This record gives sequence, structure tokens and C-alpha cells, in this order.
Amino acid sequence: MRSLKELTQKTLEHIENKTLELGDRIRTISTESYLSITRYDSEVRYVIKKKPLPFCPSNRLKNRGDFFVSQLSGLSLLAIRGEDGQVRIFLNMCRHRGARFVSEDSGSNCKKIVCPYHGWTYSDQGKLSPISTELGLKSQSENVLRLLEYPCHEFFGMIWVILDRGTDADKLAVAFKFFENDQDELGIALEHALPEHSFIGKFNWKLGVEAFLEVYHFAYAHAPYLAQLSYPNLSLSDNFDENVRTIVPLKKPNENAEVLSWAQLMYFIFPSTFLLYYNDHAALISLTPVSIQETRVSYIPLVPQKALEDLRDIEKKVDFLKVIISQDVTVLENVQLGLGSPENSQFIFTRLESQLPLFHHNIEKALGSKVDLKYK
Ligand code: FES
Ligand SMILES: [Fe+2]
Repeated sequence: MRSLKELTQKTLEHIENKTLELGDRIRTISTESYLSITRYDSEVRYVIKKKPLPFCPSNRLKNRGDFFVSQLSGLSLLAIRGEDGQVRIFLNMCRHRGARFVSEDSGSNCKKIVCPYHGWTYSDQGKLSPISTELGLKSQSENVLRLLEYPCHEFFGMIWVILDRGTDADKLAVAFKFFENDQDELGIALEHALPEHSFIGKFNWKLGVEAFLEVYHFAYAHAPYLAQLSYPNLSLSDNFDENVRTIVPLKKPNENAEVLSWAQLMYFIFPSTFLLYYNDHAALISLTPVSIQETRVSYIPLVPQKALEDLRDIEKKVDFLKVIISQDVTVLENVQLGLGSPENSQFIFTRLESQLPLFHHNIEKALGSKVDLKYK
């Protein structure tokens, strides 16, 4: 993978030579990929639940004892920052007979997790306190009946989770490795999350991801806002495993100024999260499947602590991005409506959309041989 400097240099060369970064050839995909329920179920099971998903901003769990409850992919999850300073994410459900521990979405000073049904009590690390042996449970049951815990990792001012308890938490950290050098270079600390903006879009989650992986639609779908970009259709991407870093030059570059003053950087964290970097903050956009034709779109601005003193510029950018996203949603819902037409059962990915077949390829890879439906 190119370093950020090399990527910037290559972008300048393309601008100078008036060239574009193009894929090797056109590819096609069957619309079945967006319509098959069996396939969708497998995607949730083998892709969405096995890869990093953003759970909540770190600043929701600033202090020891802070907790936060949220639904993710049909699961109620409880995140808590323990006495040892570590964040852990548990299934919000008692091991006895399934009562939920907390219903409110957040709180503080939680030292023990106490079940409201029969009072079983767990430590902030998920360990069950001894219960009377008269109940018939074997000794040592407190070790066996720990809370069900999911691997999580803090990065980009967010807490990330993998909904597969068998995954090693270190694996999660590896997924973010390639951002680390860039982050130091960009020097924008993402310390504070502004309020989340979220809604349900009526489109398949993969259609949503595709819209963020290409700039070809900017001139049309985002007219007039993004139609006058200085370098239409120019974007350069690097792949790191399943993740992507993309640079989009927005205006005439100034070689001596930092890259974010003339270009946008975007990071794609497979399978469904984007981080868009501006010169003063970043926007985290996640696209979580709700059903085969519904996707929860969430947008969280992440800002440095010092930006809180005056948020006016950032708020303008936030509002602008909301408009852009709503334009995407309009088009995507339109595509979804037409999906079932048997007359048009194949979509085309042009050479300007070369990240899209890669995205689908990575889904295929994650599905293994479980679903036999390949893009060509
Ligand atoms: S369900 Fe939790 S103690 Fe009974
Ligand atoms: Fe768009």
C-alpha cells in the first residue's frame, strides 16, 4: 500500500497529466445479489457479524463505571468501562433466565451488574458473584456462567465490536493497523463525538456501501453541490486487506499545504463503515442492514476537543454532508424500487467503479463456499 505521501504525489501527477485512475475492465453483477433472502441471511451471519462494526463513541464511556446500551444487528448490547479502565461489551441478558439488565441507554457509576429479576450479580468484568449452592448449581458455576462478552476495541474515537464471540480481540485491532500512520500524519484527534444523526433508508445495505466507494455519481446525483469539482471522476484508492483508503481532490492542490486543505480522505472499514476526513474533523458513516431492503444509516461527526469552543464551521460541513447523504438516499431508494425487474437482471461496474467489484469479492471471500453466487 502506498504511504499517504506517495498517494498524494500520485494524485498530483494525475492532475498534472489530466489522467484518471481506472480499473482494468468492466465487470457485471447479478441483481440476485441484492434480492436473495438466503444470501442476505448469510451476509448478516458471515460478513456483518464477523467484522468490525462501530458501537458507540468512546466519549459515551469516559469514566470508569459509565455504561451504554444499544441494539446492534438485533442484539441488545451493554458496554461498560470497568474499574480497570477497559471497555467491555456484553450481551444485555442474564445467564439465568434472560432478563435484560438495563433498559435505559446510558448511565454512570455502575460497579456491579445486577439482574432485576432474581438479583444475580455480575462484576464489571462479567463474572457472576457466588450464588447459594442450595439452588442446585454446580460449584464453580460462576466461572461458567460469565456474561457473554464480545471482542471490542477503541479507535478513531469510537468503540468497535465484532458480534462473533469467537473472534480474538487482537484481530479487531489489526483491522485498524493501516490507519495508524495516517492518523499520526493527519494530526486530527477524534476525541469528541457530536450527536448522531440516523434514519432507516429503504435500500439494500450493499447498494449504500457502493455509493460511497465511487465518485462517478458526484456530477449527477450531487448536482449542483459536487458537480463543479475541479477534477471530475478523479479519485485514487489503496486497499489494505478488505479496507480501503481513498483520496478525492476537491480543488486545485497546493503542494505546500496539508493534503486535507484541497482533498478529502475517506477510509472504508469493511464491511459497512466509512470515515470521511476533513481538515478540522471527521465524519463516521455506518450502513447497518436492518432487512434485505432496509439499512440503518448513521452519521456521527468526530471532532477534536478544542473544536468544541467554536463549532460553527464544522456544523456547516455537517449540514452539507447531510444534504449529500439525502441525495444518495433518494437515488438508492430509486434503485431498490427497480431491483426486482426480471428484464434487467445484471448491473455493470465500469472502470471508474473499480472498488465495487473488490467489495463484492471480499463479501464472497467472507461467505466462503456457503453461497454460490459470484460476480463476473
Ligand atoms: S433472570 Fe436474571 S436473575 Fe433470574
Ligand atoms: Fe454520493
